[in-house]
Amino acid sequence: MGWGAGADKALVPAEASMPLRPLLKWAGGKRQLLPALRPHYPTSFDRYIEPFVGSGAVFFDLYTTGRLQGRRARLVDLNPDLIGCYRAVRDQTEAVIDALRELEREHRDRGSDCYYDVRDRRFNPARAERSTRGAGAAAAASPGLAAMFIYLNRTGFNGLFRLNRQGGFNVPAGRYADPRICDADRVRSVARALSSAGVTIECIPFEDALENAGRGDFVYCDPPYAPLSRTASFAQYTAGGFGVQDHRRLQKSVLSAAKRGATVLMSNSSAPAIVAAYRGPAARRAGLTVHRIPARRAINSRAALRGPVEELIITNASTTARHQPGLSAAPAGR
Ligand SMILES: C[S@@+](CC[C@H](N)C(=O)[O-])C[C@H]1O[C@@H](n2cnc3c(N)ncnc32)[C@H](O)[C@@H]1O
Repeated sequence: MGWGAGADKALVPAEASMPLRPLLKWAGGKRQLLPALRPHYPTSFDRYIEPFVGSGAVFFDLYTTGRLQGRRARLVDLNPDLIGCYRAVRDQTEAVIDALRELEREHRDRGSDCYYDVRDRRFNPARAERSTRGAGAAAAASPGLAAMFIYLNRTGFNGLFRLNRQGGFNVPAGRYADPRICDADRVRSVARALSSAGVTIECIPFEDALENAGRGDFVYCDPPYAPLSRTASFAQYTAGGFGVQDHRRLQKSVLSAAKRGATVLMSNSSAPAIVAAYRGPAARRAGLTVHRIPARRAINSRAALRGPVEELIITNASTTARHQPGLSAAPAGR
C-alpha cells in the first residue's frame, strides 16, 4: 500500500521505514550529497517544489523519511524523456515491468549488440515519431518507450543522458558484467511514490515551477552545474543545454521565491560566477547564505584537479550544517 488515497493532504507513507532508491542513475544525482543536504531540510512546510528533479534523490529521501506526509510535492524537469518515463511508471506500472523484463532477457543473450539495437532501431525512431505529434506528446511515453529509457539508463555509459545535434540519444553502451535491468519491486515502489495524492510531475522550465513559490513552500534546486573550467565535462540533459544566461535567470527566480517567503535550498558548483551570484548584496538581502562542502564529482580538467574541489549549498533555511562532520561553513568568497 502507498500513500492513503483520497483527501489531498491526508497522506501516509507506508514505506517510511524502507529507503527507496531512485529508479534511474543520473549524472549529478544527489544521493551521495544527502547527508550534507538533510540538515537544511525545513521541519515545517506545506508544499515541496523540485524544479530540476532528475533521478529525484532528494524527493525520494523526503518521501521515505516521512517528511512529505501531509504535504504536496511538485516535481519538474525539462527533459521530456525523463518525465514521460516517470508518468508511464506511475500510470502503467505493470506494462513497463513486462517490457523491461523482455529487454532484460534480450540483453542477457546479446549484451551490447542489444543495447545498440534498442538505442538506434527502436528508442530513437520512437522518440522521433513522438516529436512529430506536437509539444503535448513530448512528455508522453508508452510503456515500451519508458522501459527502453530505463534499460538504456541501466546499461549505458555511466547512466548518462546525451543528445546529438539531431536530437538523437547517443550515449555508448557501458561495460557492466551483470547489470540490474528489471528491479520490479523498485519500479512498483517508485510508482507508488509518484502516484501519491498531492504529487505532480511536470515537464516545464524551472521558471514556471518557481513563479508562484512563496511562503509555506520548500524549494530544492539542483540545476546542471556551472562548469568549473572550459574543459570540465558535464552532462547535457536537455536539447538546449544550460548556460550562463540560464544560471542568471535561475538566480533571479530563486531570489524572488526566497523574498516571497519560500525556504530555498540549492546545490551548485563553486564556479566563480555562481559564488558571486549568491554571495552578493541581492542574495544577502534575500537571506541566502553559501556553504562550501567537499565535492565528490569527477572533474575532467587538469586545472581543477590541482587543488581540492568544492561544491556549494546555498540556502535561507536555518541550519545545523556547521555541526555536521565534513562540512565547512567557511565564507564562500575565499
Ligand atoms: C543536476 S540534474 C538534477 C539531479 C537530481 N537532483 C538528482 O538527484 O538526480 C539537473 C536536471 O535539470 C534538468 N534541467 C535542465 N534544464 C532545465 C530547465 N531549464 N528547467 C527545468 N529542468 C531543467 C535536467 O534535465 C536534469 O535532470
